[in-house]
Amino acid sequence: MINQTTIDEIKSRMDIVEVVGDFVALKKSGQNYKALSPFGNEKTPSFYVVPSKGIFKDFSSGKGGDSITFIMEIDGSSYLEALKYLAKKYGVEIVEEERTDEQLQAQNERESLFIVLNFAKDYFQNILWEHEEGKSIGLSYFKERGFTEETIKSFDLGYSLNIWDGLIKEADKKGYKQEFIEKAGLKIVKEDRSYDRFRGRVIFPIHNITGKVVAFGARILVKDKKQPKYINSPETELYHKSHVLYGIFQAKQAIRQADNCYLVEGYTDVISMHQAGVKNVVASSGTALTEDQIKLISRYTKNITVLFDGDSAGIKAAMRGIDMILEGGLNVRAISFPEGEDPDSYAKQLSPTALTGFLEDESIDFIKFKTNLYNKDSGADPVRKAQTIREIVNSIAKIPDSIKRTVYIKECSSLLDIEESIVVAELNKILITANKERQIKELRKPVDQVIQEEPQINEKQGSSKSLDSIINDQERESLRMLINYGTRVILDQEDNQQYLVSYFFSEIEDVEFVNPVYNKILKICKQKFEDGEIVTSKYLLSLSDEAIKNTVVDLVTDKYDISELWQNKYGIVIPREEDKLKNVTYSNIVRLKFRVIEKLVMNAKESLKKAENVEEEISRQENYIKLKRMQMQIADILGIVIT
Ligand code: UTP
Ligand code: MN
Repeated sequence: MINQTTIDEIKSRMDIVEVVGDFVALKKSGQNYKALSPFGNEKTPSFYVVPSKGIFKDFSSGKGGDSITFIMEIDGSSYLEALKYLAKKYGVEIVEEERTDEQLQAQNERESLFIVLNFAKDYFQNILWEHEEGKSIGLSYFKERGFTEETIKSFDLGYSLNIWDGLIKEADKKGYKQEFIEKAGLKIVKEDRSYDRFRGRVIFPIHNITGKVVAFGARILVKDKKQPKYINSPETELYHKSHVLYGIFQAKQAIRQADNCYLVEGYTDVISMHQAGVKNVVASSGTALTEDQIKLISRYTKNITVLFDGDSAGIKAAMRGIDMILEGGLNVRAISFPEGEDPDSYAKQLSPTALTGFLEDESIDFIKFKTNLYNKDSGADPVRKAQTIREIVNSIAKIPDSIKRTVYIKECSSLLDIEESIVVAELNKILITANKERQIKELRKPVDQVIQEEPQINEKQGSSKSLDSIINDQERESLRMLINYGTRVILDQEDNQQYLVSYFFSEIEDVEFVNPVYNKILKICKQKFEDGEIVTSKYLLSLSDEAIKNTVVDLVTDKYDISELWQNKYGIVIPREEDKLKNVTYSNIVRLKFRVIEKLVMNAKESLKKAENVEEEISRQENYIKLKRMQMQIADILGIVIT
């Protein structure tokens, strides 16, 4: 643990322009800086650094945050690692927090486990390359499989001798504690004896993203019906199967570059594809794909291509994987291999160019994939066809982004030759059910988490903040919704589908914002909307007005930071604002109206005081009461008490 003072010190010194500038060629643009996105391949710069706020924002990938976030994103490092990097850069001495004995022991234990695992990796490698048995059995096996020496080395492959205590003895000799050998999952302890877990097998070390070994997989080389072909390390303090992807360390750079990640079944698939030049490949290895694994991939790309064996028995289970990827908001494609082939065997058959060509040509989106799968031999059978549609719509319903859903609905209807409205009706049925479930979950959430999600404008602030600044905040909040989510389809109060922007302008007709820049942006949005277009942040940022651009960068970055931070720092996933757009927009509009009226009420009161004759007083009194009544009504909706 780095102590809080150190963290504060790092934060006070870090300069976003310097930090980003180490990785990206920045160009000054007004008060801010611009560059080509380091997270994607783009031709026009959409990566911004806002020094005044200490933040960056990348419009091509949607990433954004402070210097710490940037290092985490660019380097794939953890929060702690990013802090350490920045401390080094700015010469801040890291003061470690005083720890309790218990914490100290836990920390030491983790470090000891890493050390022991690294020792084991070296040991297995050494046996493979130097020991007679290792060379004649292990190394020759890998070579027969077609792995080059370079490949074998870059995956740290090894061999375990076919005896009971090879590793145990070596550990003793080198002075490693048996306690840690056992806790690292390398030794099996039975009542009366203990022995090496891995014996007479070739070894596949499993690395975490920073390249440290956390576990091993091991393949038997002889035909033995009584033993499993592969065995793996058990779950340990350092190895949680569901969090780890085999090959991620070797693949992460390539995944980012290709902006796509191939997902295969096992160790050998990863290694063979890697050797054939396709390096953006990982395996979920042994387990069904998990949410955490998807999150891990999504740090590097939003595109996953799942590779299926020609005769994969577990294809239905793999389907679940596709749905989970969609649910995570990522794009998914699929490739099926010819009968009897898997990525490993096929990568060996084809030349690197042919393999790349195959992957490019054969990759299809999940709708086509599912259609092919379920339609294979259904012919014109209407029952089977209905089932296919339901299967596909089920997957579409998992996609959080409504625009994307719309695109897939179109494709589904044309591919299966059914009317779009039927697909939409089917989808809505599923969405409504899912929505109800979500609402129930929402209601059961712990209170402190809900508070964290509340919009920043708080009625109680009224006393300490001036009315003008509250109105300013409210205007800002409304614009933020418009710019970020204007193109989203939401259900209005009568449950009709509407673009958020049209809902907004139908509710708020002739509002003038007090803040001149906000008002300018609002007017642009309105004008464009009346011309039948929806203004996006991209469009606003392409205008030459610096004031508008600065504001827009702020507007687009703000909220994002908060949830990013919470997620990175505390591992708490805050449901994204866009998931509850309708409610947020509605309450936002109501709040906006309330603030506008509040101001009108105050003005009316002032002018009432200044009335010069009875007629004037009466008409102004009427006006005041009318406004006050409107204010009360809205306050009622918002649940605010006004005096
Ligand atoms: P394979 O059975 O094809 O393994 O499984 P292999 O080593 O390539 O064997 P051969 O040479 O084709 O007969 C493919 C992947 O599935 C995982 C491994 O990661 C392997 O690379 N697997 C397979 C397991 O995790 N456990 C098993 O028992 C079998
Ligand atoms: Mn195989």
